Amino acid sequence: MQMKDLAVVAFLSYLATVNAWSPTNSYTPGKVSCDSNINLIRKADGLAPEESEWLAKREGNTKEALKTFLDRATSKFSDNSIVDSIFSSTTPRVGFASCGGGYRAMFVDAGVVAAMDERTVGANENGLGGLLQGISYMAGSSGGSFFTTTVTYNNWTSVQEIIDQMKDGDHSIWDLSNSPTNPGGSDTEYTNEVFANITESIKLKNEAGFDVSLADAWGLAFGYYFFPSLPRGGYSYQWSDIQDADVFKNGEMPLLIEIAKVEKAGETSVDLSSTTIEMSPFEFGSWEPTINTFSNMKYLGTEVNNGSPVNAGECIAGFDNVDFLTSASTNVINTLNNNGGFYASMIQSFKTRFLPNVTTTGHIDVNIAAPNPFKGTSNYESDSSIVDNDQLYLVDGGIDGQVIPFTPLMRKERDLDLVIATDTTADTDDVWPFGSALVATYERQFMEIGKTDAFPYVPDTETIVNLGINKNPTFFGCNSSNLTDLAYVPPLVVYLPNRAYSYDTNVSTSVLTYTREQRLGMIRNGFEIATRNNFTDDPDFLGCMGCAVMRRKQEQIGLEWPSECQQCFQMYCWNGTISNSNTVSVPSSSVSSNSSTAVSTGISSATGASTENFSTIHIETSTTVTCHECEEAQATATVEVCDECEQGNTQVTATVECEECEEIATNGHHTTTTLTSMTTTTQICEECEEAQAQATATSPVTVSANVGSESTESSSNSSNDYSNNSNGSSNDSSNSSSNDSSNGSSNGSSGSNNTVNSSSSSKPILQVTTGVASAASQYGVIVNENNADSLVIKSFVTLIAIVGTVIELL
Ligand SMILES: *[C@@H]1O[C@H](CO)[C@@H](O)[C@H](O)[C@H]1NC(C)=O
Ligand SMILES: *[C@@H]1O[C@H](CO)[C@@H](O)[C@H](O)[C@H]1NC(C)=O
Ligand SMILES: *[C@@H]1O[C@H](CO)[C@@H](O)[C@H](O)[C@H]1NC(C)=O
Ligand SMILES: *[C@@H]1O[C@H](CO)[C@@H](O)[C@H](O)[C@H]1NC(C)=O
Ligand SMILES: *[C@@H]1O[C@H](CO)[C@@H](O)[C@H](O)[C@H]1NC(C)=O
Ligand SMILES: *[C@@H]1O[C@H](CO)[C@@H](O)[C@H](O)[C@H]1NC(C)=O
Ligand SMILES: *[C@@H]1O[C@H](CO)[C@@H](O)[C@H](O)[C@H]1NC(C)=O
Ligand SMILES: *[C@@H]1O[C@H](CO)[C@@H](O)[C@H](O)[C@H]1NC(C)=O
Ligand SMILES: *[C@@H]1O[C@H](CO)[C@@H](O)[C@H](O)[C@H]1NC(C)=O
Ligand SMILES: *[C@@H]1O[C@H](CO)[C@@H](O)[C@H](O)[C@H]1NC(C)=O
Ligand SMILES: *[C@@H]1O[C@H](CO)[C@@H](O)[C@H](O)[C@H]1NC(C)=O
Ligand SMILES: *[C@@H]1O[C@H](CO)[C@@H](O)[C@H](O)[C@H]1NC(C)=O
Repeated sequence: MQMKDLAVVAFLSYLATVNAWSPTNSYTPGKVSCDSNINLIRKADGLAPEESEWLAKREGNTKEALKTFLDRATSKFSDNSIVDSIFSSTTPRVGFASCGGGYRAMFVDAGVVAAMDERTVGANENGLGGLLQGISYMAGSSGGSFFTTTVTYNNWTSVQEIIDQMKDGDHSIWDLSNSPTNPGGSDTEYTNEVFANITESIKLKNEAGFDVSLADAWGLAFGYYFFPSLPRGGYSYQWSDIQDADVFKNGEMPLLIEIAKVEKAGETSVDLSSTTIEMSPFEFGSWEPTINTFSNMKYLGTEVNNGSPVNAGECIAGFDNVDFLTSASTNVINTLNNNGGFYASMIQSFKTRFLPNVTTTGHIDVNIAAPNPFKGTSNYESDSSIVDNDQLYLVDGGIDGQVIPFTPLMRKERDLDLVIATDTTADTDDVWPFGSALVATYERQFMEIGKTDAFPYVPDTETIVNLGINKNPTFFGCNSSNLTDLAYVPPLVVYLPNRAYSYDTNVSTSVLTYTREQRLGMIRNGFEIATRNNFTDDPDFLGCMGCAVMRRKQEQIGLEWPSECQQCFQMYCWNGTISNSNTVSVPSSSVSSNSSTAVSTGISSATGASTENFSTIHIETSTTVTCHECEEAQATATVEVCDECEQGNTQVTATVECEECEEIATNGHHTTTTLTSMTTTTQICEECEEAQAQATATSPVTVSANVGSESTESSSNSSNDYSNNSNGSSNDSSNSSSNDSSNGSSNGSSGSNNTVNSSSSSKPILQVTTGVASAASQYGVIVNENNADSLVIKSFVTLIAIVGTVIELL
């Protein structure tokens, strides 16, 4: 009944808005009329009728595609009649999980998907071409959502199409030659326009009565890289609009589900026990016991009580903006804010600069979905705190440690047979995975929040490393008979960890600029990961992927398992072997302390930061500098001197890569990366401060040293420190004058004005900010670009640079 009403309303409003996307044709949500009896929610007791209906249509297409793929994959089998046997009665259902990890993840995911896409040149010869056409679901989280959003909301474009039009500096899709901190590069006018437009969009949304936050800016800024063909990077483009696209209506693409986590009111972080929100083209909601409800995606933003609009006959549309919801799935601003002290005060200062004239709820680091679509619902089981709140706070879907978005694809209701997953998590110091994301999802099924989930057995991360599982494809859950003591028999998992073939795809999460060549290298390596180096590592891998597709159906129907598949499974299935120093069997299935889970899974999450140990977290930021400055490497000098004074209780490393200077000369800009680490110490020695000051004095760069108030006698608040610091930096670039630098830096402890002004005859381009948190006791070095001359831009630049430091945690 409810759903029928919805369909009618959806159809009417589709007719009404057939040419305009958002009702206001902008970022601002607007009122639309809806049936006075409409109910926008349903209990999470099965698939949405729209999803089931769509799936039936999709599977008309996947059936043929999978059959074609499997015929090819098994063509060398001595007997491949199993393919016909399966398809005579059923169709395997396959999903793809697009792992997080910033742009690194986006590109590796793109390469893996390209290898499965029949539209990719070479994929049918060297790859798994056609498998993508047989996939029913695609899930994204964090950087994986950058990928899934891009292809889904560009009318299911192919990676090949993106590659074919890929250039540097032309604002084509994924043209990352300039970072979101400076989208115009040397074209300052463009940059100013982008940021002015973003600020305006946020302001107008707020004036229309909606809560806004810095996460709105985050999404709108990234939108320019994903939707260059749309006005203002997709600012009027809605998540639910895909329902109207032919390619979706005809079931010619998989169903996208991206995930975000809910941060509870009164809390400042999320962990493995936090609620997961699913965002599909149809619905926004959660299966988990704290919500257990789905809401109609199209009318997100409507004020409701138990699903009924508070103003009968009046709904909101246009709240489900693509950039805004992608932002929710990728939002790490929150994690920074959680770190307290320095970062929190910094974010506060961006609030005043970037959200100048808006009314905020104070929750400026989360995506605010308000009014709460679940308000007044009673499907939750015990904890009503999420549905009781007027707002719903969303943060990055992978920040709880589940960097691979398995949960939507594991749902019993969706009944998948196989989930193919990438792992681009930065588990190791050099940004390779060791399976923490697998372990996190495995463990979560034994927690209260995950009790309706199932996930195959996986070993501990040490075993994953010792058996080389983090280097080559591995299948988990190969035998249903081994999974019977889980909540239900979950799909088989094909795990494709990030590793280097033709390109080092372990690029730091916080690198936000890539040249065309780098992008192509990343994507190509992703292709090779999915294909075991174009089948040179194992010519039989194509057949083995075919076996993985067929396995659950073969088990269910009781078909004979081809000998080739037996060999494949011998080779690719994790068979229960444990290889670790503790000889523990599997990851603890009784998670006694969920608060420590993030640490035990190898994600040194910054959530709950003030109590965490940051000594091993590595942080990188990216920056754009001009060539001659890079060569002078003053930034390096500045940072490196800190190494010397860190001995003992802190460690700070820094690299500035200058190899690309040559290329840069062509467009005046290039990328460099500074690697630092955070430590728990609050002690910064005097030498470091002095050295920084000296480096500054001789450098064309501008250095603002915000030195730890706790380690010194400073009586001032870190918040004040930051504000002053930020102002000082801004002044620096517009009005530099030399010789005053060491003064400010060595007096950093004074706290009230610890800005170092430095200059040279050359235009200051690079801004180096160092700061010590007073509350959370971290030391951080932030390098950011500063080649534009507006205050707003610099603030935003700094914001992104800081945010970049934390994305590395994923
Ligand atoms: C693998 O195949 C892809 C697609 O044909 C190609 O781009 C790539 O160069 C190949 N890699 C190797 C190592 O041959
Ligand atoms: C998708 O296709 C529709 C219809 O052809 C077009 O209007 C729209 O602009 C396309 N969207 C994008 C993001 O290219
Ligand atoms: C900024 O907004 C104006 C007005 O909508 C538009 O004409 C212009 O193209 C936008 N520019 C950018 C870079 O978004
Ligand atoms: C904010 O409001 C002040 C005072 O009304 C005004 O001067 C200023 O221009 C506004 N800023 C923006 C970005 O709208
Ligand atoms: C990438 O991996 C290689 C080999 O493990 C390593 O030498 C390099 O430092 C890593 N790069 C990063 C950014 O960690
Ligand atoms: C997390 O831990 C707390 C305290 O140890 C416990 O009360 C709570 O039930 C746990 N939550 C879940 C989802 O396991
Ligand atoms: C699956 O079951 C078969 C036969 O029962 C057994 O030989 C094989 O080792 C099992 N594999 C796994 C991964 O459990
Ligand atoms: C299980 O896997 C381990 C290592 O991958 C291997 O050494 C062992 O022989 C396998 N056991 C069986 C029964 O296949
Ligand atoms: C399945 O395999 C895991 C890992 O080897 C083991 O701990 C578990 O007991 C097995 N379950 C069943 C039902 O065989
Ligand atoms: C942080 O971890 C390191 C290495 O495990 C340890 O030596 C140090 O004592 C820890 N610091 C704090 C404050 O817990
Ligand atoms: C520092 O700032 C916080 C909030 O910004 C405030 O509660 C606190 O009193 C301030 N401390 C000092 C010493 O000014
Ligand atoms: C901070 O120092 C700068 C340069 O030394 C000076 O121009 C500015 O007035 C000072 N600000 C405060 C608040 O003392």
